[in-house]
Amino acid sequence: MFKDIISIKDLSKDEILAVLEKSEEMNELLLRGECLDMMKGKILATLFFEPSTRTKLSFSAAMHRLGGNVIDFGETRASSIAKGESLSDTLRMVEKYSDFIVIRHPKEGSAKFAAEISEKPVINGGDGSNEHPTQAIIDLFSIRKFKGQIKNLNVTLLGDLKHARVVKSLIYGLAIFNNINITAVSPSGLELEKEIVLDLEKNFGLKIFQTNDIYGGIKNADILYVTRIQKERFSDIREAERMQKSYKITADLLEQAKDNMIIMHALPRIDELDYDVDKTKFAKYFEEAAFGVPVRMAILSLMK
Ligand code: CP
Repeated sequence: MFKDIISIKDLSKDEILAVLEKSEEMNELLLRGECLDMMKGKILATLFFEPSTRTKLSFSAAMHRLGGNVIDFGETRASSIAKGESLSDTLRMVEKYSDFIVIRHPKEGSAKFAAEISEKPVINGGDGSNEHPTQAIIDLFSIRKFKGQIKNLNVTLLGDLKHARVVKSLIYGLAIFNNINITAVSPSGLELEKEIVLDLEKNFGLKIFQTNDIYGGIKNADILYVTRIQKERFSDIREAERMQKSYKITADLLEQAKDNMIIMHALPRIDELDYDVDKTKFAKYFEEAAFGVPVRMAILSLMK
């Protein structure tokens, strides 16, 4: 079905629904303790130029669960990147050693660049502040599991919406479903970019209410999607650390939430989500992270 997955915007609603259906199949299979061998003899290369726990390990687990193998160059300092080798030369080699490539890189557009070079399928595992499309599919799958459907929902996005690539992919993924209302809550200076808001309103009819009122954002939400301050994107680390202290979801704050509200977070969390919240009925983020394996099994199985 897919040659590459670079942006959630490249996927139609039918394609997203097909991935969600396949993810459901994979999830059932894992719950039964079964694996597949459809990737026997195939190799996935994971090229991570930025740290990762969930994306790298869940793609690796997914490939293994499908009967395939994984190669990885570890930290960039252990590869010839440290000697100055270019991204394009690295890709020219890796596409010869593997059947699929997952790339994470700090530069926006790097996954698209990789797909232009590689004849083998390329999956964007996060390119700078731009996109993280497979996380968005995990989030949509999670919403469908927890809420039963992806429509008629008030979704509050909270945090560093300027830099959070998971939000930029998720919001476009949500925009194709019916009657989704977005409240975007962020510290001043970390709002969703104006061009994105205008594009979503004009071309998708998505309603976005922007505010810095955390209480209002929680009170009306069916889903509270929390993001951390993306410290690695700040030029001034002290400013990032100041921002990290500017909001925190605690169990006490959730007293005003709707009874069936859920909290999602792509993780890792830093200071924005108190550990007390984990014990509440609202916390769904570890289940969301666990869905990374069946969803990425589905994605790999649907690559051409
Ligand atoms: N959700 C996510 O992308 O997590 P990692 O940065 O650990 O891969």
